[in-house]
Amino acid sequence: MPQPSSLEAKIAARKRTLESQGLLRRRQLLSPHPIESKSTQFVHQGQVMLNFSSNDYLGLSREPALARALYQSALKYGVGSGASPLVTGYSEAHFALEQKLCQQTGHEAALLLSSGFSANTTLMKTLFDKTDVVLADKLVHASIIDGLKESGAEFKRFLHNSLEGAERLLNTHSAAALITESVFSMDGDKAPIAELSKLCRAKGVWLIVDDAHGFGTDTQFINAEDTSKHNATDAEQIDVQIVTFGKALGCQGAAILGSQALIDFLVSNAREYIYSTALSPANAALALASLEYIEQHSELVEKLNSNISLFKGLCAAAGIKLHGSDTAIQPLVIGDAQQTMDIALRLKSLGVWVGAIRPPTVPQGSARLRITLSASHSEADIAHCIAALAKVLPDELKNAAQ
Ligand SMILES: Cc1ncc(COP(=O)(O)O)c(C=O)c1O
Repeated sequence: MPQPSSLEAKIAARKRTLESQGLLRRRQLLSPHPIESKSTQFVHQGQVMLNFSSNDYLGLSREPALARALYQSALKYGVGSGASPLVTGYSEAHFALEQKLCQQTGHEAALLLSSGFSANTTLMKTLFDKTDVVLADKLVHASIIDGLKESGAEFKRFLHNSLEGAERLLNTHSAAALITESVFSMDGDKAPIAELSKLCRAKGVWLIVDDAHGFGTDTQFINAEDTSKHNATDAEQIDVQIVTFGKALGCQGAAILGSQALIDFLVSNAREYIYSTALSPANAALALASLEYIEQHSELVEKLNSNISLFKGLCAAAGIKLHGSDTAIQPLVIGDAQQTMDIALRLKSLGVWVGAIRPPTVPQGSARLRITLSASHSEADIAHCIAALAKVLPDELKNAAQ
């Protein structure tokens, strides 16, 4: 009999631990869902589900005009880039997208990567080293933490969204940068960017903002030609901005935006950029088409905002206790991981799919339903979601004043 390897034993033990804690993760297989219907429905194991868990805030992942744009750009550029950007993988499609992103945000230059996760990790580990002190909000994304760990920098965390905490660390450390998110992925609340920017500018510390969940969901696009209308997530306040294309833009990829000197430095030093196949030009052209689509359809952002208000209003009327977010991300904290999973399962049986988020993604004891809204939800979809929530939530999460 061959001996089980030590790795097999480790994997099996880890699985048992996760299972006993209710933290084992499983993938869910979705059936194809023709793009003609722009609805947020999909089919899982033969059951039609309403999707309240994606980051497709404007419903663009199912926009036929963008599917056509992808096809046209694939015909023009091919389906893959074929090489790293420094070999033969950098095309006019990439350049045009970079230019557009700079025009919209006010930054001098941009660098495209295949995901927001790799944009964050590569930025952190290329920019910082063990001589740097970096300050970060307690709730920044895993990709930022991983990149900082790999960089060897000393990093200090301040209490979530606490200006006092940030100021205290700025006063007591000679920091290189402060990192936060525009909209926090699990809480849906916004960072006080203007105030953090003032604090950082006064100390000569760079402000780095992961704008994954903010980019595209506000009005900066609508007046992109008019630089006086740039909003809080732009170069006037932020030294380095990370934007992703897999959320409001409905497609895939990411960009780091900053000074020309920063981007030149990354081109020569960022290992994920140098040693990885470039984002496909078809995807770059698609992200550009998506940005233009948002500019031309300001009603999408307006619809998203009215859906957020409707959702919050109907929850208040049903006595459902929310977390106070004003964005498309609406957390409903349950606490216990297993109870959260059970509630999410009951919602699925009622045709409503919401994210069930457990530690370590969120702190121990704060497992939650992460309900996300999209411009493509109808009023009936939202009413259905709230009726289902009212049915499955335990009493202590209902009938509480907002
Ligand atoms: C705040 C934040 N930053 C970065 C990422 C990673 O982006 P991507 O999905 O493009 O890898 C995510 C993903 O969910 C996120 O929530």
